[in-house]
Amino acid sequence: MITAQIEVSGLAKRIGDVEAVRDVTFVAAPGRVTGFLGPNGAGKSTTLRILLGLARSDSGTALIGGRRYAELPDPTGTVGAVLDLAGAHPAMTARGHLRAYCALGGHDAGRVEAVAELTGMSEYLDRRVGGFSTGMRQRLSLATALLGDPAALVLDEPSNGLDPAGIVWLRTFLREFAAKGGTVLISSHVLTELQHGIDDLVLIDRGRTTWSGPLDAFTARGTSLEEAFLELTSGVESSPVPTATATPNATEGIRA
Ligand SMILES: Nc1ncnc2c1ncn2[C@@H]1O[C@H](COP(=O)(O)OP(=O)(O)O)[C@@H](O)[C@H]1O
Ligand SMILES: [Mg+2]
Repeated sequence: MITAQIEVSGLAKRIGDVEAVRDVTFVAAPGRVTGFLGPNGAGKSTTLRILLGLARSDSGTALIGGRRYAELPDPTGTVGAVLDLAGAHPAMTARGHLRAYCALGGHDAGRVEAVAELTGMSEYLDRRVGGFSTGMRQRLSLATALLGDPAALVLDEPSNGLDPAGIVWLRTFLREFAAKGGTVLISSHVLTELQHGIDDLVLIDRGRTTWSGPLDAFTARGTSLEEAFLELTSGVESSPVPTATATPNATEGIRA
């Protein structure tokens, strides 16, 4: 399998008056599931949108397999993205949706059945997307991302709207994807959603990565995972006043 490491370095982006991302640096390695964790508004989606070529950074770099998204010779074969659930026309069947994206990406038509199988969607292929539950939409989004048999998967808060069984299914799917050499980068604002399924953890708070490294190293800090998370983030959605806790060295725990 072709592998593709994700490398984000010194990333910054201002949106209007907001410094959405100030200094984000981390690596997501092939063969590992990397959790990108931070409170709402921390800058996760902005970082991932820049990584996927949907937004431009003011400074810093976000590379997949050593290249910016726009410079990838085979973008859909390099990275698949599950960003939000818009984009699938409600009147279209899942098969119609997948066929359209399959053709757009220039992939073999047989990929439609293959990705439906992979994501447990085979029985739903001829149903209209408009009638899908959030969980089925998530699976369709993941199936679409897999059409190009990508080396990396980037998922922005994919657990939103998934039932517990769906979350367990997704966790297992991502583990298997990584076990085959894939790179997985998955964001969440909910610690408990990530703590079981990931190898590496990247914490982001107010536009800055505050910690990154193996999950083992994070939990070895002596405090509980939850305490450590709160210590390293404001922990409060849209916190108007910064907490008094000193921001730890952002490079702590980063793999050499
Ligand atoms: N299109 C936008 N217009 C204005 N502000 C934005 C926009 N996108 C993001 N922001 C702001 O940038 C910050 C980071 O947002 P975002 O990257 O969506 O965070 P997260 O995904 O971690 O919740 C927030 O303060 C958010 O309000
Ligand atoms: Mg977001």
